[in-house]
Amino acid sequence: ILIRTPNTNTDKAPYDHFMLKEIHEQPGVIRNTINQFISCESVEFACDANLFKSLTHLTIVGSGSSYMAGLIAKYWLESIANIRVLLSIASEFRYHRMQISENDVFLFISQSGETADTLAALRHAKRQNGTVISLTNVPRNSMENISDIALKISQDRKCVVAQSTYKQLFEALQCMAQHASEALVTSIEPVADLILHYNRVIIMGRGTCYGVALEAALKIRELSYIHTIGIASGELKHGSIALVDESLPVVAIAPYNETFTKNLVSIQEVSARKGMVVAFTDGKGARKLKHLCKAIVELPETNAFSLPIVYTIAAQLLAYRIAVKKGLDADQPRNLAKSVTVE
Ligand code: AGP
Repeated sequence: ILIRTPNTNTDKAPYDHFMLKEIHEQPGVIRNTINQFISCESVEFACDANLFKSLTHLTIVGSGSSYMAGLIAKYWLESIANIRVLLSIASEFRYHRMQISENDVFLFISQSGETADTLAALRHAKRQNGTVISLTNVPRNSMENISDIALKISQDRKCVVAQSTYKQLFEALQCMAQHASEALVTSIEPVADLILHYNRVIIMGRGTCYGVALEAALKIRELSYIHTIGIASGELKHGSIALVDESLPVVAIAPYNETFTKNLVSIQEVSARKGMVVAFTDGKGARKLKHLCKAIVELPETNAFSLPIVYTIAAQLLAYRIAVKKGLDADQPRNLAKSVTVE
């Protein structure tokens, strides 16, 4: 099964960089993509319904940002469709040496569709008769499609999803593009000014925001060459806290949701060790965190599905602004290829 998401054109005007243009295109891409699958009252997804009926587990495979998208999708698929989701970094896939049969379904995520590691993993799965779904073609758009799939799988599998929950999910999909637009006006300059002076940064998040933290760290690393690591907030105390002192900014992706109380503890741990905390949060979170943080990026309150998209867009803007302020070319990070065609 090939799910193709709509491509966009190649002129960067009126933006200074393609990266900024692509960040700004996301609401439109989200809208177009969702509109392919969504009608007035239901979600349509053109593939074999039998495929999903008996599905107990799914393995998601990708590289770099596509892997992070898969990580976020894991939380959605497990909570809505009640499918156990395994994740694999494409370049590691063949070393897992798992027995594969036609009952094993794999979702390969690749924006370009050309990443050698992902293609090699896909071929490995196909050679062993695994069932393959590929999600490809549009920059940073994979997550929304996976959300559609999650809904559809949930219907086919007759999961116990209350009608009211289904309605909520449906409405969440419909307003995702609007939420992405709202994220574009995030006031990011002060935080970019703050962070660009540091050589290393930790970004931490919990739940779907763990995926956001990994993606934010990757984007800052590749665009501004600041050594940035993304971690699960709960892992801080298991090692990375040893790095924390006044020379290390810690960016906490901490929306005021069910993960907030636990994130607050991690933030307090950093603050107590004189680490500089920058929080990405919403209005309610900001009120609770302001005494612990050097700066706050305040984002709109949103539903659980738009949330990682809103926070990721803000993180992309941060990475972009840091790079520009450092005089770096955001469109051509050193040593990086647009598509990685070698393993
Ligand atoms: C590009 O900005 C990303 N940093 C990179 O990790 C990318 O996601 C990865 O190379 C996989 O690319 P793909 O989605 O085209 O397969």
